Amino acid sequence: MKGRSRGRVCGHQVSAPLVLVLCVLAFLVGYFIPEFQQVILVTKHSIPSFSSFANQRHELLEDVTVAEHGVTGDDQLSFIPFQVLSWTPRALLFPKFASPAQCEAIISLAKTKLTPSSLALRKGETATETQDVRTSHGCFLSSRQDKTGTLAWVEEKMAKATMIPKSHGEAFNVLRYEIGQKYNSHYDVFNPAEYGPQKSQRMASFLLYLSDVEEGGETMFPFENYEHMNENYDYKECIGLKVKPKQGDALLFYSMFPNGTFDKTALHGSCPVIKGEKWVATKWIRDKEDWS
Ligand SMILES: *[C@@H]1O[C@H](CO)[C@@H](O)[C@H](O)[C@H]1NC(C)=O
Repeated sequence: MKGRSRGRVCGHQVSAPLVLVLCVLAFLVGYFIPEFQQVILVTKHSIPSFSSFANQRHELLEDVTVAEHGVTGDDQLSFIPFQVLSWTPRALLFPKFASPAQCEAIISLAKTKLTPSSLALRKGETATETQDVRTSHGCFLSSRQDKTGTLAWVEEKMAKATMIPKSHGEAFNVLRYEIGQKYNSHYDVFNPAEYGPQKSQRMASFLLYLSDVEEGGETMFPFENYEHMNENYDYKECIGLKVKPKQGDALLFYSMFPNGTFDKTALHGSCPVIKGEKWVATKWIRDKEDWS
């Protein structure tokens, strides 16, 4: 039994009590000398939690350096804060993505061009039948039509935030919802069984809120976390995860899984505006560059 209480340290035979004394000594040194304290802390938390990353952001900014980059890369860092709102569907909120002045510039450009919003019709559907589904006014605007350069700036930042090239984006659909106006829950992907064969799909949607809304007008995801899916969900009902529009905030969500199949939890709609007015710039991101 004698051999059990003896170990080897650096090739020397040492007894168990000696090992214990060495351990205590090492701990005391670490505990009282600040430099060693760091070592202990780092070892203890060698995998930092995400919240501690957030708390370290000031430290990060101080000693970070710009890395060598490729021909198409950036020579500076980008800071685009975001919050994961949900994994089912995959939805992110980018607070203060655009400035109030940029939002106002987009609104004034769109104001002169508004017409009643239309819908892609399913086989056999008519525009009259579906006129109550989407009651907003809107217009399509491409960044080329915006001489102020605001839309081009938004596109650029959006491409960085999603890492999906600008060429996958449709033109902006700028929408105005007045009191009582809404968009019943729907999918942005076009199910070929209902809409016929598709050349490409709207894999993700990006919404930039151009105005605050006093009351109502939330973007809702009624099936978030697979809830309400098995009930008889009424597509007018405003339930589930609700995102309150705030001027300058942007919402990104994916309608498709990474494997290309449709995410059923990406059903979404716009709750009716109760007080105020809602302005939003939407961009649908296609899974193919050649989407039209
Ligand atoms: C695609 O991905 C989703 C989500 O991970 C999964 O539920 C589904 O079974 C996958 N489908 C195929 C055909 O791989």
